[in-house]
Amino acid sequence: MRLVIVSNRVTIPERTEKAAAGGLAVALREALEKQGGLWFGWSGNVREATSAPNVVERGNVTYAVTDLTEAERQSYYLGFSNRALWPLMHYRLGLTEFSRTDYAGYLAVNRRFAKALIGLLRPDDIIWIHDYHLIPLAAELRRRGVGNRIGYFHHIPWPPAEVFGALPFASTLASTVAAYDLVGLQTQTDVANLMGCLVAMCGASINGSRLRVGRRQTQVQAFPIGIDVEAFRKLAAASVRSATTPLKATRQSLGERKLVVGVDRLDYSKGIVQRLEAFGQFLRSHPDQRGRVGLLQIAPPSRSDVPEYAELDRQSDEVAGRLNAALGEFDWTPIRVVKKAYSRNALAGFYRRAQVGLVTPMRDGMNLVAKEYVAAQDPADPGVLVLSRFAGAAHQMGEALIVNPFDTHEVAEAIRTALAMPKSERVRRFEKLYDTIAATDIGWWTRSYLAVLSGAAPLEPEIV
Ligand code: UDP
Ligand code: G6P
Repeated sequence: MRLVIVSNRVTIPERTEKAAAGGLAVALREALEKQGGLWFGWSGNVREATSAPNVVERGNVTYAVTDLTEAERQSYYLGFSNRALWPLMHYRLGLTEFSRTDYAGYLAVNRRFAKALIGLLRPDDIIWIHDYHLIPLAAELRRRGVGNRIGYFHHIPWPPAEVFGALPFASTLASTVAAYDLVGLQTQTDVANLMGCLVAMCGASINGSRLRVGRRQTQVQAFPIGIDVEAFRKLAAASVRSATTPLKATRQSLGERKLVVGVDRLDYSKGIVQRLEAFGQFLRSHPDQRGRVGLLQIAPPSRSDVPEYAELDRQSDEVAGRLNAALGEFDWTPIRVVKKAYSRNALAGFYRRAQVGLVTPMRDGMNLVAKEYVAAQDPADPGVLVLSRFAGAAHQMGEALIVNPFDTHEVAEAIRTALAMPKSERVRRFEKLYDTIAATDIGWWTRSYLAVLSGAAPLEPEIV
């Protein structure tokens, strides 16, 4: 039985080693390298005309990647996926831009992916499709007679029916979910929301964790995604010993000063601007802390061709500049925003050096950075995680300092509490957090998902 993974974003090792920013790519690579298989998706390149997928072998993984045309990139990726579905799924109706042309492009790319994938499939393959770019892919495969087990994992939040229903063609899109044998989501809230959408929009009935739409049954379950905790712990521990890592340079540039760290793609869902404001508020409310602590915000640019992202880029520069000018000293810059991607090695070093990990998305499917920050800590003298209650990770990581990212004052005070926390309490919280992320690491996630998917009853191919 071979595992076939399909996702929009595919990272072929070597080419992208240094900048695999994005939880899906990081997690899937860790999962697939362990058991081998085929990974199909977009190469990240644009061509005038598309051709057969390019197949590359790397160890036990075969990568089959296809290019997009510029029109496809505009409509399917930038348009419907990232200007309609992404904001909508993150509860941001005000930012949601729907266009019929983009929706048509989204469906067309899903059809094209289905046709290309069929040419690569074997009868005993288990197919695991990932994320919002590819929701209708199983329906397209079923329409063409594919009877294999097909699972879907939704890496981002799923909003309530009142929000999702604002999308034109919401019920058509929601009904394609029924073509899967198993749908995995990050949290129970996401599960309840997706089920609510299918009941309200497609007349589905629920029996425990199963949804029935017409003759089809789909299992819907939460599988909170994890990281390779042990590997990350080792990376962070090694960064302390290495003489060349950014950790050493960070030590030299910070001296005795404390460090608060944020690591996020430059995305409005991550609450970066609100976080900078909260750090400014913290320095205003606690003037004794000025000159004694700095915020390092790593923010690799993401989807910069989408106008809302370009606006965030401008806004974050403006806010950081304003706060640094108002609060900085000749020998101390309170906030450093670095707009480039760092390797996991380098990140592990930054996390290890930081007394506070500031993870305050306005809404997030899971947030792997929260888990990486904990995995990277020195067990004898760990830092403190400040975590948004709107990150999926908050459902598992209750021993973090849980905050509401919309409340600047609360986040500012949590930074203060974290910096002043006695070691005994830091160790107690860290140990519980570490045990949780270790018990539900990436291996656990893959095994549990695939155990349920492979146990699902085989389906007759059928038009959904
Ligand atoms: N990441 C990275 N380099 C960077 C910034 C981020 O490798 O400069 C990685 C980070 O370590 C994490 C992932 O990108 O594994 C981000 O995942 P997360 O779930 O936090 O957010 P997403 O980007 O998927 O929304
Ligand atoms: C999130 C999404 C992924 C996506 C990643 C990076 O993790 O869940 O599907 O790949 O962000 O975004 P990008 O648009 O660059 O693929």
